Amino acid sequence: MTQISSIDENVEESIEQNIEKNPQEKYLADYKASAFLIDSLDLDFDLYDEHTIVKARSVIRRVAGKNSPLFLFGEHLTLRSITVDGNDFAHYKLVEGGIELSELPDNFILDIETEINPLANKAFEGLYKSGEAFCTQCEAEGFRRITYYLDRPDILAKFSTTISADKALYPSLLSNGNRVDQGDLDNGRHFVKWVDPFPKPAYLFALVAGEFDCLTDSFTTKSGRHVALELFVDKGNLDKTAHAMLALKNSMKWDEERFNLEYDLDIYMIVAVDFFNMGAMENKGLNIFNSKFVLANSQSATDQDYLGIEAVIGHEYFHNWTGNRITCRDWFQLSLKEGLTVFRDQEFSSDMGSRSSNRIANVKIMRNHQFAEDAGPMSHPIRPASVIEMNNFYTVTVYNKGSEVIRMLHTLLGEEKFQQGMALYVERHDGQAVTCDDFVAAMTDASGIDLTLFKRWYSQSGTPQISITDHFDANSNSYQITFKQKNRSTADQKNKLPLHIPVDIELLDKAGKAIELGHGQTNKVLSLTQKEQTFVFENVAEHPVPCVFRSLSAPVKYQYAYSDEQLLHLISFASDEFSRWDAGQMLFNKYLVNNVQLKQAGKAFALPTLFVDAFNSVLSNESLDSALIADMFDFISENGAMELFERVDIELIHDAREFIVNALATALYPVFVRRYHQHQLSAQYQPATDDIAQRKLANCALLYIAKSDQTLANELVIKQIETADNMTDHLGALQAANSGKLACYDVVMNDFDNKWFENGLVMDKWFALQASLSSDSVLDNIEQLFNHRSFDYSNPNRLRALVGTFVNANSYYFHAIDGSGYQFLTDQLIKLNSQNPQVAARLITPLIQFKRLDAKRIELMKAQLNRLLEIENLSLDLYEKVTKALSL
Ligand code: TRP
Ligand code: ZN
Repeated sequence: MTQISSIDENVEESIEQNIEKNPQEKYLADYKASAFLIDSLDLDFDLYDEHTIVKARSVIRRVAGKNSPLFLFGEHLTLRSITVDGNDFAHYKLVEGGIELSELPDNFILDIETEINPLANKAFEGLYKSGEAFCTQCEAEGFRRITYYLDRPDILAKFSTTISADKALYPSLLSNGNRVDQGDLDNGRHFVKWVDPFPKPAYLFALVAGEFDCLTDSFTTKSGRHVALELFVDKGNLDKTAHAMLALKNSMKWDEERFNLEYDLDIYMIVAVDFFNMGAMENKGLNIFNSKFVLANSQSATDQDYLGIEAVIGHEYFHNWTGNRITCRDWFQLSLKEGLTVFRDQEFSSDMGSRSSNRIANVKIMRNHQFAEDAGPMSHPIRPASVIEMNNFYTVTVYNKGSEVIRMLHTLLGEEKFQQGMALYVERHDGQAVTCDDFVAAMTDASGIDLTLFKRWYSQSGTPQISITDHFDANSNSYQITFKQKNRSTADQKNKLPLHIPVDIELLDKAGKAIELGHGQTNKVLSLTQKEQTFVFENVAEHPVPCVFRSLSAPVKYQYAYSDEQLLHLISFASDEFSRWDAGQMLFNKYLVNNVQLKQAGKAFALPTLFVDAFNSVLSNESLDSALIADMFDFISENGAMELFERVDIELIHDAREFIVNALATALYPVFVRRYHQHQLSAQYQPATDDIAQRKLANCALLYIAKSDQTLANELVIKQIETADNMTDHLGALQAANSGKLACYDVVMNDFDNKWFENGLVMDKWFALQASLSSDSVLDNIEQLFNHRSFDYSNPNRLRALVGTFVNANSYYFHAIDGSGYQFLTDQLIKLNSQNPQVAARLITPLIQFKRLDAKRIELMKAQLNRLLEIENLSLDLYEKVTKALSL
């Protein structure tokens, strides 16, 4: 294979920023090392609900800037005293966001005493109460709500933590590292002291105090170190901890085997809490988890929940090396730890379960969420150049596109060189706070592969659009394929440069056999580095069907004018299961667009027989993996479909999508019924890969049956709920009743409520169903559900289930032309703005992604954003998103 043509670019041109400098904005380019370092921090907490006293003793050393003042971050703190080297200290000034100390010696001990109010903290950042327990969340900048400190990730100190609290209410007092002391105090109180031997940034600090049930276990590392494992949950929940513990032990083993990384402390603790803004947090030796990602038994958790737990337990564990031992120099480097750790957790899940199911699920996140973020007002590279509120940058771009960038490195280097790069990275940077450049340098040095051009993925935002054409020359038996990459301007960057895009390709002959491409290989990874590039394959006997971007080898949109027959060929013969799925998606999307256009031209919806035949061949194929079949019938969401159009017509997308799904449901009805019965399991519930696949296909079939034969579906749903020994099948039945609007719907929903109303996590599934109902009354219903006995407006999980599902997964009603959906969301954001701005800023997403909606809707959305701008004390979180959206 040779390269014959190329159009070169001026490579050194810099990438411009569009946004005018905003005083609140912070810039990567402004990074300066600190003039002071902190060698150790001894913390002492005297815990009380509303008046917790925090004493902090830092050993500080000046490394630059003779006589310069020291600024310490601090928010929501009441200062009680400051001493330097034991003497009262008066040279300080309380300023916006912290405290400034001047006339300091070069080496000194700083003692600061502050008071905080955990009970009043509903933002769940810093020290707060989750139910009856005290807990902390310090990433990214929450430690400054605990004490005045150099709260930045490049300040690594050795921590000790002493906690005192009421012994009866808080028998467990936990922090990072090893327990070195404990004892009783007066007034029914007790104390515990912890020492963490590894220097760490403040964002990895954690404290928990409460009364828990604890599952204990142990793990012996490959070098023979004995590690105690402790999993803390609310009393009464021990029966839901086995899976999380198993996932933890599997993670520890897997990281040793695949990455040669071993755990480093004598104890690893995980605490599950009900009030948590995100999924979980990797605090050194003391992970704190949203209980959603810990608690599971067959009765209360679905297969998806089990897989989510495995992934998040793995993710936080893997951070111990990629994040904790080696951390970020500054928050602009967040993807250094998050992109890499997501890649690691995805690989873990793929090695433990089905690789193709995992790849499909991860690509769906990219296509349904990340591409939209890159096309919207919050577009940013995986290493942002500027930030107003750091909490707004824990995004699908930094996490998931960040992982795709690591995956491309893995594809370009191969597993062996990639692992050599990892080893070099760890060897060079253990104990340091580093940058994405340092990571790529290690990969370059270990592999000898030039990644100069590749590094643009770190600084350039946007989704490349790749158009592909080809030509077969029968005289010379040569096949040439041309890739054009188009990198459109985004909200944050006008000028774009070509990227280094790995294209994993396979060529199928007429019989469906993959053509050999040299070295005994039937696939090849091409490096597309220019705006337009042609690759030639010699000794090709016939015009092949190209299978490109196998496993989606780069986070791009790609387009080749496949005929229906060629797509069917890929569905049937691509050796990559992901590519078979993707060909099905392309076929579906093609006819979704086509049907919208038919209606717009005044014609009726229509489908060719080949379309139905193609999906029939999938559903009838007994040798295909059941999970893959189910995935092939899970088509792009209405929300995701908006990305397919230059002008979006919400109603038509909805109608066309329904038409196609119903056409398949009707045409393939007998096959769905057969599949439904064929995949009923008789053995006891197990979250094993093959069982998950069977349930997935059976419940997928049920969903389609509910669209074509409501009488039969109604029977099957009722029976399935009666006989199910697990939540997956119970919920699958409810989903079919919901989407098919079956007669039993109200009754089965009521029964579920009565059975589960005391379990908030389970009720989240029920709230999400309510919010996704396709009905004119959905909004009124949601308003009423705010008063439901299981609902709690201050719990982020409940809010995401009810409000989040409505705005993200019920786009037809969210985008209702009367503006009611927009107004509803804005009402919630106003309520949430002061209490929990982080959660508010996550929920706002669909209101700022105007997509290519009609003028009327955009006007309605902007009116609501302006309403937000006018409220008093708008949080920086919302301010950043609202102003960026309105400036477009
Ligand atoms: N570092 C955490 C993770 O990826 C993310 C996280 C947990 C977080 N809680 C947070 C980020 C609060 C911002 C704010 O696992
Ligand atoms: Zn993470």
